[in-house]
Amino acid sequence: MAGERNIAPLSDNIDFAPEVVPTHVAIIMDGNGRWAARRGLPRIEGHRRGIEAVRRAVRAAGDLGLKYLTLYSFSSENWRRPAQEVADLMGLLKRFIRHDLAELHASGVKVRIIGDRNGLASDIRALIEEAENLTRANTALNLTVAFNYGGRQEILRAVQILAEKVKAGSLQPADIDVEVFEKALDTSGIPDPDLVIRTSGEQRVSNFLTWQTAYSEFVFLPDFWPDFDLVSFQAAIREFGRRDRRFGGLSPRVG
Ligand code: IPE
Ligand code: IPE
Ligand code: MG
Repeated sequence: MAGERNIAPLSDNIDFAPEVVPTHVAIIMDGNGRWAARRGLPRIEGHRRGIEAVRRAVRAAGDLGLKYLTLYSFSSENWRRPAQEVADLMGLLKRFIRHDLAELHASGVKVRIIGDRNGLASDIRALIEEAENLTRANTALNLTVAFNYGGRQEILRAVQILAEKVKAGSLQPADIDVEVFEKALDTSGIPDPDLVIRTSGEQRVSNFLTWQTAYSEFVFLPDFWPDFDLVSFQAAIREFGRRDRRFGGLSPRVG
């Protein structure tokens, strides 16, 4: 099983030398519940194992030389789940920050959390701020965690920010272009994802980075998230390398 594979650091893996490495990979980490159900375990066990996959993904992203990794960990719609599961997921985020922050910082990871903070408990908000403040000056890997995040909600918040500016007279409606709009998004300053990976076989976006994925490549992996490892990551990046990104223009490959 993929989750039981021994993960070798990429530097030891001389076979993997992709021609094209994406700058920004965003991952929809899906399938924790089904991973657990297959084993007759409670869903929380899948989420716990999912955290281990997060650690592997962050390490692999650094080894692969990515500049940006964005992880979808709790959607605006995940509040629809049973209260106990929501509480478990909140607890896991807290534990992850408390347990892993020092190590992330020591590895030069810059942490940023996107999503609606107003809907979160104050202890979680404090941890999020601590993580961002501590790692603000780091430059090795930009790790963005989407938590209480929805792409539509993010766009609406941006619209509200801009509408307030128009109302105050500091912005003209005609000046709202792509650049101005992007500055009002949670992801301001983060380049669009080149590659979006979704695990668990589902082929949908589920309200993830709605604005930012306009020209992203999508790779859907059959594995459940707790089984995600360096080999899965490499496979997705290899597939990305085979894609012909045209951005509406003509392919430089065929001339
Ligand atoms: C992904 O796994 C984690 C979150 C959405 C929080 P799921 O919990 O969605 O697992 P499945 O899709 O039910 O298997
Ligand atoms: C998307 O997964 C959200 C996260 C991975 C955090 P879901 O499991 O919530 O998505 P749906 O409900 O299958 O679309
Ligand atoms: Mg799911």
